[in-house]
Amino acid sequence: MKNVLVVSYSQSGQLADIVAALTRPLLEAGTGIRHEVLRPVPAFPFPWPFLAFFDVFPESVRLDPRPNQPLMLASGAEFDLVILAWPVWFLSPAQPVTAFLQSAEGKRLLAGKPVVSVVVCRNMWLAAFDTLKTLVAEAGGRLVDHVAFTDRSPSLATFITTPRWMLTGRRDRFLGLPPAGVDARQIAGAARFGNALADALARGEEKHGRPMLGGLRAVTVTPHLVLSERAGRRAFRVWSRLIHCCGRAGQWRRMPALMLFVLYLVAMILTVVPLNLILQRLAAPLLARRIAALVRHYEQPSGAGDARMIAHE
Ligand SMILES: Cc1cc2nc3c(=O)[nH]c(=O)nc-3n(C[C@H](O)[C@H](O)[C@H](O)COP(=O)(O)O)c2cc1C
Repeated sequence: MKNVLVVSYSQSGQLADIVAALTRPLLEAGTGIRHEVLRPVPAFPFPWPFLAFFDVFPESVRLDPRPNQPLMLASGAEFDLVILAWPVWFLSPAQPVTAFLQSAEGKRLLAGKPVVSVVVCRNMWLAAFDTLKTLVAEAGGRLVDHVAFTDRSPSLATFITTPRWMLTGRRDRFLGLPPAGVDARQIAGAARFGNALADALARGEEKHGRPMLGGLRAVTVTPHLVLSERAGRRAFRVWSRLIHCCGRAGQWRRMPALMLFVLYLVAMILTVVPLNLILQRLAAPLLARRIAALVRHYEQPSGAGDARMIAHE
């Protein structure tokens, strides 16, 4: 029997639902599943008070997270595969996931193991995925697959519906905008990855180091977000350094800098983001090759193709 370790962190329960749908076929196939939910100390609130939400920005980007409680695993526990299910916070992996990958316990569990990454976010996971790959490699793991679940509503609508959900806990239709989050069909569709993993584990394919989730539309990379994320990440690095210089997490003396960052974000969303969309359309012929290369890069390792969808749905 194969043993799989699932490590996850979910606040609203959305990511937890995806993990449940994905792991069900594995359980039905008799795979041993050990699910560890990360527990940061102190816990992050949900829904988020306004200041607490933005106060996690600098440390999320600087990869300087709050620690987690130790996992509940027996010290010598060994696994054939690790599934890491993580949300994005400010174009970076959420702090509890960073803390796990940086911890001695995380490094022991990942050393030499194949890792399947499952990201859930609004729609910007590319920069965070670059960071996650580095953290997994530094922990000694081998990232063999990556699956992304995003909110498919129009990007500009999710700039309103996602923060509303995070700050109030409400994700229903609002002012004619669609409900926030990953839709139920996509969540149920996570089962195809569990089916494919169950088959691959039965054949011992996790040992080969090659992707097991190809042909299942594991990711869809949105071309116009590729360059926006790169620009956003550069700006976030500068802002996080600046705010960190003003004070530590929770300290009032960094609030003025944090408020300036909030104003900057709102101004960006209202002006630069739409302008950027128009400019990218106009410059499309000039940028096409660069963007296509970046799209191919982010589609790795599992790919955007759907050749095996029918077999595994
Ligand atoms: C502090 C914070 C920052 C976030 N930053 C991003 C982001 O940069 N990009 C994105 O696409 N989603 C972002 N999100 C949205 C979450 O990734 C998304 O809602 C995810 O589904 C949360 O999953 P969970 O509620 O199961 O924990 C952020 C959410 C929070 C709480």
